[in-house]
Amino acid sequence: MKSSRRSFLKISGALAALAALPSSVKAFYKDVKNFIIPPKHTTPISITVNKKTYKVTADTRTTLLDLLREQLHLTGAKKGCDHGQCGACTVHIKGKHVLSCLTLAAQAAGKEVTTIEGLAEGDKLHPMQKAFIECDGFQCGYCTPGQIMSAVACVNEGHTKSVAAIKEFMSGNLCRCGAYNGIVESIQKVAAL
Ligand code: FES
Ligand code: FES
Repeated sequence: MKSSRRSFLKISGALAALAALPSSVKAFYKDVKNFIIPPKHTTPISITVNKKTYKVTADTRTTLLDLLREQLHLTGAKKGCDHGQCGACTVHIKGKHVLSCLTLAAQAAGKEVTTIEGLAEGDKLHPMQKAFIECDGFQCGYCTPGQIMSAVACVNEGHTKSVAAIKEFMSGNLCRCGAYNGIVESIQKVAAL
């Protein structure tokens, strides 16, 4: 009798452990999932890009670059390194050049953003875009939107007094085709207008 009671307790204990297993496994997987893919926290964002205001909802961790490319479908700003090293994602916020891969979309909320798509006026190219064409400032063109946005800022912010000053200002924009001479020439051309 004693022994059958012990067996009963053993068996019921084992059954209880088995019953508990699925939920603990579930909880374990939930923890792992939350670790790998943390839950989303979204926020509403109102942002003005190229003079048009957009109201979107985005994850609070969304970068300005991803918001532009993936939610607003403005793909002019390029994703080169996504780590602030190449300048391909350069845009302007309130006229100042910024790396959109290192800027949270929420930081640009309520501010004026200009991308390469906003430089031309209709069919009329911006003088810097014209200069890049005339001076052969791009080859494969992948870095070109970022280069042009930085080049416009270079002129606007008055860093064109010497080739060295231009190169220093533009040093955050990498071009693997080596169009640097054409880029410097383009900037000098626009600075002289
Ligand atoms: S993509 Fe932003 S600096 Fe390279
Ligand atoms: S033109 Fe090719 S990377 Fe600059």
